[in-house]
Amino acid sequence: MSYKIVLTDYEFPDLGPETEVFARAGLTLTPNQARTEDELIAACAGADAVLNQYAQLTPRVIRSLDKCRIISRYGIGLNTIDVPTATELGIYIGNVPDGSLEEVSDHAIALLLAVVRGLVKFDTAVKAGKWDYTVVKPLYRVRGKTLGLLSFGNIARKVAVKMAGFGVRIIAHDPYADAAEAKAMGVELVDLETLCRESDYLSVHVPLVEQTRHILSRDQFAVMKPTAIVVNTARGPVIDEAALIAALSEKRLAGAGLDVFETEPVRGDNPLLAMDNVVLSSHAAWYSEDSEYEIRSKTAQNVVDVLQGREPTYLANPDVAGHARARAGQ
Ligand SMILES: NC(=O)c1ccc[n+]([C@@H]2O[C@H](COP(=O)([O-])OP(=O)(O)OC[C@H]3O[C@@H](n4cnc5c(N)ncnc54)[C@H](O)[C@@H]3O)[C@@H](O)[C@H]2O)c1
Repeated sequence: MSYKIVLTDYEFPDLGPETEVFARAGLTLTPNQARTEDELIAACAGADAVLNQYAQLTPRVIRSLDKCRIISRYGIGLNTIDVPTATELGIYIGNVPDGSLEEVSDHAIALLLAVVRGLVKFDTAVKAGKWDYTVVKPLYRVRGKTLGLLSFGNIARKVAVKMAGFGVRIIAHDPYADAAEAKAMGVELVDLETLCRESDYLSVHVPLVEQTRHILSRDQFAVMKPTAIVVNTARGPVIDEAALIAALSEKRLAGAGLDVFETEPVRGDNPLLAMDNVVLSSHAAWYSEDSEYEIRSKTAQNVVDVLQGREPTYLANPDVAGHARARAGQ
């Protein structure tokens, strides 16, 4: 049986890992770089399966997928997919929740330490022939500080374990977390205001959903310490970027390490680009050669699973189970 498998968009230099997985199953992939709703609807017409990186699969796009049995998202976040519409239509959603936990937690810590230790300022100064430790003044000792985690999910828990060796006190805000599990890891669960008030370093790990959009905004930055540093490796829109920029430029916050932005790629006129107290990367916290191969192979394998009559290895919308099979007979 031949199936149409459509890739909506991708930023990889090739499609090697995906092609390998599909070839083993006798399947082929049709790649696209669609972005707008109309481009996506045209590209995905007649698709049995859709792979998705960053293009927004809105309710209108998903309703046009009349044969599709699975949408398989590269990575963890599902904010590119209107999950309720796909679930209502009986479309499986697959993702890869375990492909980059080490990388993202390492990256959050790398961004934090880069700001805490003034690494980018040092690098710029030394390369410009300036041998002067005062270019970073003032820096403060890490040991004894309070690290706040916004969410206590998989990545945040890895950050907690890795940062414990730095001698920090760790607090977290996550209304759905298990307090006993947190306590066993030496982490205290607190409300959002306490998290903002007490954190010297605040690392953001919430998924982007309606309740977390702009979860950090003017009111939250207003209660933070002027010496505090914010790190975001989750999703840009969970922070009100205008409020963050205002707090940084008015010195109500000391610095930030950001992998994600409200608009990506980040716009050339974004004031963050001109700030020397922020360190930036390009939504690449997930990346290592290892995680890239793992995520891309597993994204393809979710599709193979469903087209061969099984549930995806990583089922992200378990509510679909009752009626997903209805699509198989179409
Ligand atoms: N920058 C990157 O390259 C990259 C890579 C992977 C993941 N991510 C982002 O990281 C996010 C977290 O990943 P994860 O693997 O830890 O996810 P996860 O599902 O394990 O954890 C998410 C946590 O957020 C909590 N949460 C939900 N709503 C909340 C709220 N209102 N306030 C506080 N906590 C709330 C949940 O209870 C859960 O514990 C992903 O959703 C994704 O957007 C980014």
